[in-house]
Amino acid sequence: MSSKIRLNVNIDHVATLRELRKTPYPDILAAAEECRLGGADGITVHLREDRRHIQDADVFALRKWGRLPLNLEMADTPEIVEIALQLRPDEVCIVPERRQELTTEGGLDVTAHRESLARTIARLQRASILVSLFVDPDEVQIRTASDIGARCIELHTGAYCDAARPEIAQSELDKLKHAARLAHGLGLQVNAGHGINYDNIRGILEIPYLHTLNIGHGIVCRAVFVGLREAVREMRSLIAS
Ligand code: PXP
Repeated sequence: MSSKIRLNVNIDHVATLRELRKTPYPDILAAAEECRLGGADGITVHLREDRRHIQDADVFALRKWGRLPLNLEMADTPEIVEIALQLRPDEVCIVPERRQELTTEGGLDVTAHRESLARTIARLQRASILVSLFVDPDEVQIRTASDIGARCIELHTGAYCDAARPEIAQSELDKLKHAARLAHGLGLQVNAGHGINYDNIRGILEIPYLHTLNIGHGIVCRAVFVGLREAVREMRSLIAS
């Protein structure tokens, strides 16, 4: 079953390296092509409001490149929603965003923002974009995601991946498995991501009904030693094994 799981590679941190020095390199399209040659099924990028890594020009260039499906991670804000509607990526994953955070820290509070999210989901889905909501493995959030018309969720795997002790990791993994069963039962596509690396992937693969994994930082870090294509290939083969 695990061999069918799709791998989207998040290349935000290729752009992080570029933006650190404002150089024209490393080239984002060359990175996407290396991911493709390594066996990636899609490219994921997060156009943050502060544009700390991926820039508007990057997302439009990736769309034009078009050799792999594009998944745009984004906050539910008017400016970014307009860009998404112009861009028309294959998929959008709506995430919470706080300016000072190092990375996306938790899942969306779908219940607190249900009206605005419902409107955004409807607008994006009318434009034939598959919309996923990034949520913690929490029953209420998942049920609400389904109620407001999402067709997909991405389970936040950070609590499992970053767990300090094995018993905490096990309990977080159990929550992810339970959440995946619930979401699948509600007819939602189940994706997962955040903090996944070459060591913790084994546990992730125990989660049932996984459709797509979104993996970024771990792969880009491995690429420092083996190159991006090989780093993707290694993750691809772990997922398939
Ligand atoms: N999925 C979502 C929704 C994210 O926000 C991120 C981080 O941008 C990822 C996956 C990838 O996480 P990581 O870089 O830790 O693999």
